[in-house]
Amino acid sequence: MCGIVGYWGPEKPKAIILDGLRRLEYRGYDSTGVAIFDHGQLKVERSPGKLHRLEEKLRGIEFEGPTGIGHTRWATHGEPNEKNAHPHKVGGVAIVHNGIIENYGSIQKRLVSEGVELKSETDSELIAHLLDEKLREGATLLKATLEVIPKLEGAYSILVVNEKEPDSMVAFKNGPPMLVGLGNKEVIIASDIQAVITRTPRVVYLDDGEIVTSIKGAVKFYNSKGDEIRKDVHEVKWSQAMAEKAGFDHFMQKEIFEQPQALRQTMEGHLEHEPLRVVLKSSGLTDDEYRNFKRIQLIACGTSWHAAMVAKYVFERVTGIPTDVDIASEFHYRHLTLDPQTLAVTVSQSGETADTLACLRRVKKMGLRTLSVCNVPHSSIDREAHGRIYTNAGAEIGVCSTKSFTAQIVALELLSFHMARLRKSCSDEELKNYISGLLALPGQVEICLNHDKWFREAAQSLTKFRGFLYLGRGVNFPVALEGALKLKEITYLHAEGYPSGELKHGPIALVDNNMIIVALAPKDELYEKNISNIQEVKARGGQIIAIGSGDDQGLEKISKHYLSIPEAVWSANPVLESIPIQLLSYHLAVALNRDVDQPRNLAKSVTVE
Ligand code: G6P
Repeated sequence: MCGIVGYWGPEKPKAIILDGLRRLEYRGYDSTGVAIFDHGQLKVERSPGKLHRLEEKLRGIEFEGPTGIGHTRWATHGEPNEKNAHPHKVGGVAIVHNGIIENYGSIQKRLVSEGVELKSETDSELIAHLLDEKLREGATLLKATLEVIPKLEGAYSILVVNEKEPDSMVAFKNGPPMLVGLGNKEVIIASDIQAVITRTPRVVYLDDGEIVTSIKGAVKFYNSKGDEIRKDVHEVKWSQAMAEKAGFDHFMQKEIFEQPQALRQTMEGHLEHEPLRVVLKSSGLTDDEYRNFKRIQLIACGTSWHAAMVAKYVFERVTGIPTDVDIASEFHYRHLTLDPQTLAVTVSQSGETADTLACLRRVKKMGLRTLSVCNVPHSSIDREAHGRIYTNAGAEIGVCSTKSFTAQIVALELLSFHMARLRKSCSDEELKNYISGLLALPGQVEICLNHDKWFREAAQSLTKFRGFLYLGRGVNFPVALEGALKLKEITYLHAEGYPSGELKHGPIALVDNNMIIVALAPKDELYEKNISNIQEVKARGGQIIAIGSGDDQGLEKISKHYLSIPEAVWSANPVLESIPIQLLSYHLAVALNRDVDQPRNLAKSVTVE
């Protein structure tokens, strides 16, 4: 939600800020803007819509100063028009903001009663007014920020500059991420590593309640009382190439094709071969803890929630531990009674999703041990959980999550196989079979990716359909939900995911010959029952696209299209089925001329509740 970038250094800030915003655009793309010093003055340029519109506006405009800030917005308060775009400049101060100011109403009331004329409908502008009041009383930007922070409630991060201090930037984090890149005589402050990594791998991550100042490139950190604090500098390993399209048309397409490698990376370091077993390295929790948990509670949002649902089936069957899965925004406010010996697992690609982070904090307060499954190292969820497993899928930029989903399934299966070994809840033979299933995945995913051309062609014939029903049973049911979500997110077509057995309790009423049924029917223990359910929709005119394993002439016969994934152990099927459902959504979105990487109304990282 909203991308922030600021620059001080020897180069012209405009190009660096625009490049940073381009890399952060997946965080929001409702409007963009910059405030950059030019001959001692802060010039603000803003535009509604995507970054290219601001770039056009800035063509030919040069700025002479050393410092500037920029913003790409996902609207919370106020429409995504130019006046609501950031930066907001009041007097000599300009601010970019990510998050929500909850006591916005009372601040606004006070300012308006004092005759302040507000130019926008945003909560962000109010912060600029509060800072301006302090600056006019003679405070420095740091002092003004320290005095304004206690007046603001909510989860928010800000980056500010002041006309009187052209070599300074001040940032504060209280919720959404903020980090500082320490370059060669230059400083970049941004909400995400993507905007920094092209300039420097040396990064400091702000924690909640911390302020950073950069004055002529000298960077200092403070707590919210204004005491200077020491912070660790991290060397970030991600290469720039990982955030480029590398010849693909879209990030989503590239990320779909990266899955064989992503899955290898997820498994790397966690497998021993003689004998074949999972040994989770440096997860932060002890073997004794893993042996003694009595329940597992998985918490996540969106696609990560679907991966967690797959994991529920796996945990229950393999470890025998009762397992619950909750959507973070629901779990957060539930009246809970949790067994103290519950392992709470938060699953998040970004590691910054506000609801998931809030749940992590809540269960920690309740005394539970916590484990995070994140893709982004050093993210808030990663840092705050007691233990961690990384998906290591590499940067995911497409708003529609793909490689993170399959990597999350694999990471969670590694966890369950590790626990099963320690608890002896499965025979060695069974575990070997499951782990061999994981090891075969990268090669089998390659085989599924070879169907790409088929989907490109088939998508053309599917554009006229308006309703899609995704069906699956058991461990495959969450993949049906994920298939429907992928389709909704990037094609804007209506899609629903259902457990096949539930169909006759309502949704079958939707079925006619205008309805596409995507049926996940691999050969597993529920295969026969699943086929009967598919027959029921077939009998009512449903147009079936079946995804089955290997050669399955029976299923092929009742389907409009039959797609085969390699035959595999049941626990590997969700990953294999994910490839066709991703390719189907991707090619249909392209055929419908949708904005694949930046679908309307969405943002990749949801840092507000
Ligand atoms: C947003 C993204 C989804 C993602 C969800 C959870 O809605 O658009 O793709 O699944 O957030 O994000 P997380 O980073 O916690 O996995």
